[in-house]
Amino acid sequence: MPSKIEGYVRAHDLWRGTQCINLQPSENILSSAVRSVLSSDMAGRYTLRSNEFISNSGAANSYGGTRYMDEVESFGEETASSLFHGAHASLKPLSGHIASLLMIASTCRKGDTIMAVASSDGGYDGYGEGYIPDIFSLKFEALPFNRRKWNLDAEAAATAIRARRPRLVILGQSFILFPYDMKAIHDACTDSGSLLAYDASHVMGLVTGGRFQDPVAEGVDIVVGSTHKSLPGPQGGLFITPDDGIWREFTRNTTWRIIDNAHWNRIAGVAQALYEMKKHGPRYATRIQSNSSSLGRHLTSSGLECRFGELGYSRSHQLLLDETSLGGLGFTFGGMSERLGRDDIVTDTTGRLGTSEVSRLGMGDREMGEVASLVIEALKGMNVKSKANKLRKRFKLHYT
Ligand SMILES: Cc1ncc(COP(=O)(O)O)c(C=O)c1O
Repeated sequence: MPSKIEGYVRAHDLWRGTQCINLQPSENILSSAVRSVLSSDMAGRYTLRSNEFISNSGAANSYGGTRYMDEVESFGEETASSLFHGAHASLKPLSGHIASLLMIASTCRKGDTIMAVASSDGGYDGYGEGYIPDIFSLKFEALPFNRRKWNLDAEAAATAIRARRPRLVILGQSFILFPYDMKAIHDACTDSGSLLAYDASHVMGLVTGGRFQDPVAEGVDIVVGSTHKSLPGPQGGLFITPDDGIWREFTRNTTWRIIDNAHWNRIAGVAQALYEMKKHGPRYATRIQSNSSSLGRHLTSSGLECRFGELGYSRSHQLLLDETSLGGLGFTFGGMSERLGRDDIVTDTTGRLGTSEVSRLGMGDREMGEVASLVIEALKGMNVKSKANKLRKRFKLHYT
């Protein structure tokens, strides 16, 4: 007899895993291999290898029985490193946010200034005043942003970096559509002695698929990010740096400072997802990009305008809805999410739509047309739940 908890989990898996169309850009579907390693015995085990900051009374590891977990971690680090041109790579951060904390702890000191995209321009809230900068007593400055192009104003950002000389400049956004032109910003960081970081939380699947931009090749000092948004891994974080000194500081700040155990079944799942990305990443990322422009076109031509059509809508897994156009259909972002959710079309309440999951299912231009029609019909008051369930059931997971 399954427990109440098992019942809830099964009901959730059936509903979200086989019936819903998910358009939330922060989520993805795990492959069956990733799910299988997640349920491994490793979920209850420890390993702690010695390094220059951790001595285990002369032993290589403070725990016994770790041989396979240590192989898994090494394999995952090598795979991540090869996707980022041989840079040092760690799968230990428990999430994108923890990777960011490790980055700040490893680079900044009390009173330093960090510059990042403001949350009012789609930047990550965590970098703004009241959040991570408060913990470390840092000052926050917003990077100049061009809202008409939904991109950094690279020249103005370079000028601001030269004027402020921040310790750390963090590129990346929670609402991200287009790659950045990093050259001018990189040059300004070099001139100012500032470190340049790239938070790839949202676009990790596109970056590792080689279809967005290549931060390490473009000269950044650190890449951090989530492993579960456009990258189809379990929830977790990555920390990447080509710099030996930053890697040493990261190592110092990891065990017993920001992390103790690193959840080894999760690390096995992330390693497996990275391995799958090495095989299928380019095709998956290409499909995401074509689906984003396609869904943008279909929604706009059906009466719900997506922003930045003149720029092709998006080069990422996200689309931004036009609030006025949605208002014309009688909805706010939150109201839309609630209405679509009733018919098993899952969106968040921020006015973003995401195409990672529909792309993972192998959907293409024709299905983006169907998804757009379902969204519009639901917003016009029709019940589209069974149509949404049928569309979802026609597709199985790809790129695994
Ligand atoms: C740009 C960015 N950085 C960091 C994070 C935090 O990631 P996580 O939820 O994996 O901790 C987010 C979360 O949405 C994000 O959008």
